[in-house]
Amino acid sequence: MNAHVRRFPDIPALTEAALAAVARIARQAVAARGVFTIALSGGSTPMPLYAAMADRGLGAPFSSTVFFFGDERVVPVGDRRSNFGAIAPVLFTPSPIPVGNIHPMPVEVRPLEHAAETYEAEVREALGGVADGPPRFDLILLGMGPDGHTASLFPDRPALGETRRLVVAMEPPTTVEPRVARLTFTLPLLNAARHVLFLVGARGKEGPLAAALDGPPDPHVPASMVRPTDGELEWLIGEG
Ligand code: 6PG
Repeated sequence: MNAHVRRFPDIPALTEAALAAVARIARQAVAARGVFTIALSGGSTPMPLYAAMADRGLGAPFSSTVFFFGDERVVPVGDRRSNFGAIAPVLFTPSPIPVGNIHPMPVEVRPLEHAAETYEAEVREALGGVADGPPRFDLILLGMGPDGHTASLFPDRPALGETRRLVVAMEPPTTVEPRVARLTFTLPLLNAARHVLFLVGARGKEGPLAAALDGPPDPHVPASMVRPTDGELEWLIGEG
């Protein structure tokens, strides 16, 4: 696979490298297009990165940065399992980000298919691009679960074959917690990005990591199917 893979002794070292990568991509984006569009990942691994972004900046002015979410758990924002709820106090509250630059997923909308369509329209409107193809994020951050899932694309789900929709609703996972419904970016949107950056702590994930890095794209390991068509793919792996 044509990915840049870097390994670090622990999460603090991975976080430093991630902050440098975000800043580099953000500077390039603002220089080229005047705006930096980023999709955030849930899970625990990127939390120190979000704190560092709030504390030390992310390479672009916050006023020129537009934040989306690559996936969300369908729970109220105040629920401890909400990705937005976990990230907001760490990154958004301490930073001078115009509120219109933050795009949480609409977890309150029903049916969930409509929530997914609403968010897809929001992505298209903010990013522009061609009407029938997927728009391009400057950067999509991703993690990987011990079952090989990424964003909320779980192993062997039909949504892995999606070719048109950019955001879909997902039934609760059976392989990992929390077992709640999700909204998630699809592969066409992930693979249209200019940069995809995986942040992964290796412990307990050795099998799917090897499959994602060394194997062919495999629906049993959804992270292995993230291969940007015309963008850069980088994996930062913390061994500690
Ligand atoms: C989510 C995620 C998910 C996450 C992985 C890794 O909302 O659950 O976005 O894809 O990135 O499960 O999570 P950890 O960093 O906690 O291992």
